[in-house]
Amino acid sequence: MRKPLIAANWKMNGDKSFNKKLLTELIQKLPTVSSAEFLVCPPFVYCESVAELLQNSQIYCGGQNLSEFNSGAYTGDVSAEMLIDVGCRYVLIGHSERRSLFGENNDIISRKILRALNQNLIPVICLGENLEQRQQGLTEKIVISQLNDALHLTENHPMLHDAVLAYEPVWAIGTGLTATPEQAQEVHAILRAEIAKYDRNWAQKIRIIYGGSVKANNAQGLFNMPDIDGFLVGGASLVAEEFLSICKVVE
Ligand code: PGA
Repeated sequence: MRKPLIAANWKMNGDKSFNKKLLTELIQKLPTVSSAEFLVCPPFVYCESVAELLQNSQIYCGGQNLSEFNSGAYTGDVSAEMLIDVGCRYVLIGHSERRSLFGENNDIISRKILRALNQNLIPVICLGENLEQRQQGLTEKIVISQLNDALHLTENHPMLHDAVLAYEPVWAIGTGLTATPEQAQEVHAILRAEIAKYDRNWAQKIRIIYGGSVKANNAQGLFNMPDIDGFLVGGASLVAEEFLSICKVVE
């Protein structure tokens, strides 16, 4: 049995008072389901205060990114060790906004995964095709190559089996266009089959979550699919009621 994971990606939103209000409501009203995990990923500067607010709750804190380096002269960067130090358990890696706006390629992403695993920080490895690639029928090829490239440094890492995959079709992120449950399921099954080539047991165990305009009104249909193990939620995670309704699908 895979433990569902519902993750919030706040992106560059929030401030101290907003965060406190939102988290207080989430902590009070989240379904008490021990068989699921919840995660919020605030901007770096709020990770520590968010992790403190979440202490004794069933919600984890995660970073939205991390440095590909350990420490040293990398102005503006934040290391895996620092994320652990301030209370993070997870980290998003390779989000499409990092890839497209900040030039992160598969090499950088694979090094970031290695840094995270070395610190016992669970990576949520994001991948997905853009609209042009989907229209050209390249979805399968793209996600498989993103997956294998991302894992090439860590294939034999003892912590790799805890990693989470997030399938996020770029055309569905922040656009209001969601993949249909069938479209998402198809790609999730492809990813799981690819993982099975590394290790069959791992393929059964790995959580593959979906992201891209997940809302209260489409979450259940997606979650009903056999290979969809949860969500990575952007916009809707900033509205308590909306995010709570998405979380309720695990009940
Ligand atoms: P969205 O973002 O839910 O606003 O589409 C998802 C994401 O970028 O992770």
